[in-house]
Amino acid sequence: MKAAVLHNYGQELKVQDVDLQEPQKGEVRVKMKAAGICHSDQHVIDAHLPLPVPIVLGHEGAGIVDAVGEGVSGVKEGDHVALNWVPSCGKCHYCRIGRPDVCDEASKTALMGTMLDGTTRFSVDGKNVHQFPLTGTFSEYTVVPENAAVPVNKDVPFELAALVGCCVITGVGAVMNTAKVEPGSTVAVIGAGGVGFNVIQGAALAGAKQVIAIDMVDEKLEMTKQFGATHTINAKEEDPVKAVLSMTERLGVDYAFEVIGRPETIQNAYNMTKKTGMAVVVGISAPNESVSVNAFSLPSQSKTLKGSWLGQGNPHVDYPKLLDLNTAGKLELEALVSQTFSLDEVNEGLAQLKSGQNIRGVIRF
Ligand code: APR
Ligand code: ZN
Ligand code: ZN
Repeated sequence: MKAAVLHNYGQELKVQDVDLQEPQKGEVRVKMKAAGICHSDQHVIDAHLPLPVPIVLGHEGAGIVDAVGEGVSGVKEGDHVALNWVPSCGKCHYCRIGRPDVCDEASKTALMGTMLDGTTRFSVDGKNVHQFPLTGTFSEYTVVPENAAVPVNKDVPFELAALVGCCVITGVGAVMNTAKVEPGSTVAVIGAGGVGFNVIQGAALAGAKQVIAIDMVDEKLEMTKQFGATHTINAKEEDPVKAVLSMTERLGVDYAFEVIGRPETIQNAYNMTKKTGMAVVVGISAPNESVSVNAFSLPSQSKTLKGSWLGQGNPHVDYPKLLDLNTAGKLELEALVSQTFSLDEVNEGLAQLKSGQNIRGVIRF
């Protein structure tokens, strides 16, 4: 079967024949039908997220269960599934306190590029090939832990099921679960990509009265209005902090979301919140980067700086809910798919992600 493999950081992926082992105990094989191209994949190519190469990238995907290993009871052959890159264990401290998003077991292997037991299922010429975090969706087939395959209804288009697995749960969850945005709030969103568009529509759904979208691509800023943005700022043309202050009677916003993964934009998010405001960091920065915020302002302005991983969600509960919100017309998922590619065109899809033109590019198998 074919998969797209990153062999060297900074280079294009190579679409090539790759061997895939049978699913082992507690694992399932999935025939991929759709895979979204997310900036987290690009972070690995840029060596910004330190994962070992060679590696099969892709973590936003959906497909059909094709084989199951010993002891699998949650899914069976033929089930349609959306993949989950945080397959929580249910047993660690964080799972027990109701926070499967930061499960110790899943996070232990996330940056190793292996399955939960530390071994790999992909190989080329007998040499191990890693997979991006417990998924590896830029591949015709993949093997994942049982808990990484979340059943979805068969009438859900695979493209939408794929997106729910990363950009939708991450974006909408940051609003609903992490920030808990109240009706009437003011919100700014820095970075209008696949994830940022879902923060925008999540904020609109939560009843925010003002949703300010900030990006550098005018065409995309224009499209954010259809997802609920009330104001837009092009960060190439104006200072986003000053622009937000002038749009909020010099107060700043109640909630600012950073959806890029850079220290400067995280600082901007913090600086554009009002007293009592909250900045939520969704974007993933490199592990060695730090952010500087004014220490006095934290207590004296009663501010919060908070992070959100996988939208603080639980895929088994949230995927069906998010898909129901789409069916009910409250979340727009179809229009997030702005372009589709074949697996052979994966590098074109990544180039478009880098240029910031797409909301979401999706590979169809
Ligand atoms: N100011 C404003 N907008 C910017 C800036 C900047 N300095 N730099 C980049 N952007 C915009 C890009 O134009 C693009 O529209 O940020 C957006 C990022 O979107 P995508 O590349 O589609 O990224 P996405 O997949 O949404 O991921 C965003 O969330 O989950 C994390 O790892 C992911 O860190 C990444 C972030
Ligand atoms: Zn992602
Ligand atoms: Zn756990």
